[in-house]
Amino acid sequence: MSIRIMGSGSAIPKRKVTNDELCGFIDSNDNWIKERTGIISRYISMGETVRTLACKAAKKAIKDAGINACDIELIIVATCSAEQALPCIACEVQKSIGAEGAVAFDLNAACAGFLFAMNTADTYISGGIYKNALIIGAEVLSNIVDWSDRSTCILFGDGAGALYFEKDNSKLRFIQKSNGFKGEALSCYQRDSKSAFYEGDILYKYVKMDGREVFRFATRVVSDTILRLLDEEGMTVDDIDMFLLHQANLRIIECIAKRLKADISKFETNVERFGNTSSASIPILIDEVRRKGKLTEGMKIVISGFGAGLTYSACLMEL
Ligand code: UT7
Repeated sequence: MSIRIMGSGSAIPKRKVTNDELCGFIDSNDNWIKERTGIISRYISMGETVRTLACKAAKKAIKDAGINACDIELIIVATCSAEQALPCIACEVQKSIGAEGAVAFDLNAACAGFLFAMNTADTYISGGIYKNALIIGAEVLSNIVDWSDRSTCILFGDGAGALYFEKDNSKLRFIQKSNGFKGEALSCYQRDSKSAFYEGDILYKYVKMDGREVFRFATRVVSDTILRLLDEEGMTVDDIDMFLLHQANLRIIECIAKRLKADISKFETNVERFGNTSSASIPILIDEVRRKGKLTEGMKIVISGFGAGLTYSACLMEL
């Protein structure tokens, strides 16, 4: 038993921000950003929230799938940047779309969050507990980025993507891993620890990153994990029609392709236009690729996410 994509949708803030615009207030330049990251522009919230973007993407995926929201049984929102702690975003989505019968909860595994959520849905559905799932990745990272830190603020963007899945019999295999011992490489301590009894610590509330460490981690673990996944399935890189990786940085994707000895044309990218949207990057990419008609029945694809935690995951899916 496995799950199959039956619908997709995405929601992007209206405001596009180019590298040149950023370089109006940070000491950088368009060339540096393009060369080191591949990013040309990103979309930044002008009041859109994780909630509003998630709801919009969800409605598009439901429309695309042609289903009735009240038949949805499971809603998971992967996010690490929600403006609200309670109620969770998935419950907000449930209310907004009218999915009365659904079980809804959020999951945070940063940039691997969407794949962790897909794996969770697959486990529930394969176990016979639910028949379908709406999985959303939604982020407004512009709220947690330090706009005076040129090494991080150039990377991130805002947006949401949603995929609707139903039970199926096609091949679907996941590997997911966490390495909390390296967590300091990419952190964000957002909320005060102050209470009636405790003064609280002074926190740096923005994303803090050791870029080189994350780069090394991503290129190494993603290629190793994909090779392990394929090996366990008796397949090779040549058997794969398309690679859909978390859109963190074009150089990371090129480096992974090289390590895998895979043809770079098999790697779809949109990081150039959206920047790194963390848990939203994979569903936004899949939605784009689906709409272009590039995903056809019988294709074998590999999806991989990696990021803070540190967390990482790879998935082999036969369409
Ligand atoms: O979802 C996962 C999220 N994280 C990532 O994907 C991050 C992965 N890491 C990276 O993408 C890269 O490490 C960065 C793009 C963040 C940085 O590129 P790098 O080639 O690793 O640069 P670096 O950190 O080694 O810094 C090299 C130089 C430094 O200057 P000095 O010390 O050599 O004088 C930085 O201060 O580049 C400087 N620098 C910049 N210069 C112009 C850092 N950011 C910028 C900038 N513009 N925006």
